Amino acid sequence: MFHPQRKTMDLLPLVCLCLLTWSAGTAADHSPVVVKVEPGSDVILPCSLSPQKSITSEHFEWKKDGQKKVFEYDGGDHSNTILTDQDEQFRRRVSHFSDQLKNGNASIMIINTQLNDTGNYTCDFPDLQPRQTFYIKLVFGGAAPEPYVKTLKTDDGMVLQCAVRGASPQPKVEWKDSAGNILPAKEPQVTERGGSYNVILQAPLTKTDNFTCVVTQKEINHQISADIYALNGAAPEPSVKVVKTKDGELLQCVVRGVSPQPKVEWKDSAGNILPAKEPQVTERGGSYDVILQAPLTKTDHFTCVVTQEDINHQISADTYARNDSTGLVVGVFVPIILLVVGFVLVQTEL
Ligand SMILES: *[C@@H]1O[C@H](CO)[C@@H](O)[C@H](O)[C@H]1NC(C)=O
Repeated sequence: MFHPQRKTMDLLPLVCLCLLTWSAGTAADHSPVVVKVEPGSDVILPCSLSPQKSITSEHFEWKKDGQKKVFEYDGGDHSNTILTDQDEQFRRRVSHFSDQLKNGNASIMIINTQLNDTGNYTCDFPDLQPRQTFYIKLVFGGAAPEPYVKTLKTDDGMVLQCAVRGASPQPKVEWKDSAGNILPAKEPQVTERGGSYNVILQAPLTKTDNFTCVVTQKEINHQISADIYALNGAAPEPSVKVVKTKDGELLQCVVRGVSPQPKVEWKDSAGNILPAKEPQVTERGGSYDVILQAPLTKTDHFTCVVTQEDINHQISADTYARNDSTGLVVGVFVPIILLVVGFVLVQTEL
C-alpha cells in the first residue's frame, strides 16, 4: 500500500563529533558542558585543565548530583586501585586515561550508560589554588535517528504518523507534501526521559502523494527525514454496465485507482450476492484496479458494492438490467403468440 524510503541528510558531517564536543567550563561558569550518549553506550566525560599542566601527582574527584562518588584520583592511587568509597553504581564501570594526565586531562569513561547515569557531574580539583571545578551534564539521546513513518487508521480517518525516538535536544517534527508544503498536523505527543525526547506527529492523509517527515534539531545543526508514498485511495463510485460476450451477457463493475485493495461484489435487488467470475485485479504503485463480471441471468435492479474494510469505506452503484432471455420472451415470443392468437381469432370469425 505504501513504499517507505528513507534518507538522511546531515547538515554538518561532523554531527557525531557534536556528541562529544565540549567547551571548557570553569569554576566561575556553572553552565555545564552537555554530553549526549545513546543508552547502553560508553561515554567520555571531559575535564581538562587549561592552561595545560600535568596532574599526575594531583588530586581530582568526580561526583554525580553533588554527592555520589563516581571516581577519584589522588597522586597515582584511584578508585580502581585502593581508593574505596566509590558509589556502588559506578563500581568497575569508570576508568581514567592515565596517559593523558600529563596533559592535564582528567576525563573519565563510563561504560554501558544507563538512565540513572544521566544527570549532573562535577570534576573537581579541591587542592588546586584556586580550586577548580568543572560541570558536565550527561543526557540520553543526541542527534535524532531516522524517524519511523507509516500510515495509520484512526477514529478520525487515515493519518500519516512520524515517530522520532531518543532525540536531544527536543526536535521540531514536520510533515511535508512533495511540493514542500507543511501539512496541518495535530499537536505532537512529546515524552522526555533523561533529557532525551520521543516525539510522535500525526497529520491527516488527505491526498495521494509522496510525504516527508522532517526532523530538525537546530541547536546541533542536524536534520534527518524519512519519506513515505501514501495513497488516500478511498474508492470512487464504480462504473457499471452490461457487456455482451460470447458467453452471454455479463454485469460488469469497474473500480480504478483505489487503495487498499477493495472487495467487489454484485448483488441483486434482494441483496443476494451473485455468483461471479474471479475478479480481474491489477496493481501499480500500490493502487488497484478491479473488474468484476457476473452473468446476467434475470431482469432486476443490480448493485455493485465496493468495500475497503481497512479504511471503513463502502460505495456502490446501481443498474437496472434486462435479461436477454426475458427480452426474448417479451420481444419475440409474446408478439408471435399474439400474432397466432390473432390469426386464430380471425380464422374463427371467418
Ligand atoms: C582527554 O582524553 C580523552 C581520552 O583520551 C580524549 O578523548 C580527549 O580528547 C582529551 N581531551 C583533550 C582536551 O585533549
